Amino acid sequence: MPQRTHIQHADSGKMPKTLPCAVRDVRRLTSKSVLVTLDPGDHLPLFSHKPGQRVTFCLNLEGRTCFRSYNLVNEVGQLPQVAVKQVARGGASEFFTEELQPGDVLNVAAPEGHWYDEKIDHKAHHLLLFAAGSGITPLISVAKHALRSRPDHRITLLYANSATRDIMFQQELDDMARSSRFNVFHILGDGATGEDLSTGRLDHAKLQRLLEDFHQDTLPEVAFVSGPAGFMDLVDEAAMRHTPSLTPLRFSFMQQPFLHPEDNVGSGPTSTLRVTVGGMTHVIDSTRCNTILETADAAGLSMPANCRSGICHRCKGRLISGHTVGRTTKVPGKEVPKGYILCCQQRPASDDVEISLD
Ligand code: FES
Repeated sequence: MPQRTHIQHADSGKMPKTLPCAVRDVRRLTSKSVLVTLDPGDHLPLFSHKPGQRVTFCLNLEGRTCFRSYNLVNEVGQLPQVAVKQVARGGASEFFTEELQPGDVLNVAAPEGHWYDEKIDHKAHHLLLFAAGSGITPLISVAKHALRSRPDHRITLLYANSATRDIMFQQELDDMARSSRFNVFHILGDGATGEDLSTGRLDHAKLQRLLEDFHQDTLPEVAFVSGPAGFMDLVDEAAMRHTPSLTPLRFSFMQQPFLHPEDNVGSGPTSTLRVTVGGMTHVIDSTRCNTILETADAAGLSMPANCRSGICHRCKGRLISGHTVGRTTKVPGKEVPKGYILCCQQRPASDDVEISLD
């Protein structure tokens, strides 16, 4: 079979540095999703990753350059794998799920992202993982890592899908559930299980009952949530009411750099960000699809931040000029004062945006 290349050479300072990777395998996970195995050859050590990290593909689709980030789902030390679910016709996800073939070559940037705090592995924990749909992808690597990193971690995965046929990694999850330390609980919108708690749409009352059922007193708990914004809000709220100290660490696909449908280089609105931190003012060009914190991260600017979920307020900054848009996470007893924004939650919405964190 002739080798096809989908390489777009990264020649702009804004683009991540990428490496050519051969596609070793494309395996169907569900009717709408595939598991892609990459072979970076001699560059394999550069693709060693931490749980929840992602790689960015630089693609040339129909003559246009675009970047897409996907989570690594492979075991550490194995060939890099990403799982892609088709979300739109004609976009990158359709390319991965319908066109990509073994032997093709893609340009891929090394793993990045900071989601999993390695301190979790300093002692035994109960990891509560909440996933909806393709939100499973960063969590499956967290679950695999937790199973392997300590013999006394326990993991509970609550996984919401519309129907059984939509469950990604069903075989892998069944295999992992052979371990007494890994418990997976499926919630199916189509009512396939016939059981009250695992049937129908996930709502607040159901989540509260699930949290009560799965809560463990014996181990410190840490929670991760990944899926659509509404699902993550629901989990945040239920967790906060059930166990105020249990603040789920969010993973949002919309919060990932290079993952917006409008991120074709040279198209889509951009902004000029002026960020003052530590007595210095930095000027950064920004797309409007990334949060201000993500833009600062990508530019190598160190900004105060912790949860990246709108909860700790460490990234609070004074909006001096311009407009921003984004999420508002309500945290009891913590208000964002008028004239201030949370940089991990807000994206630029005007040509110029000026913020001070001093
Ligand atoms: S980093 Fe915690 S609120 Fe933004």
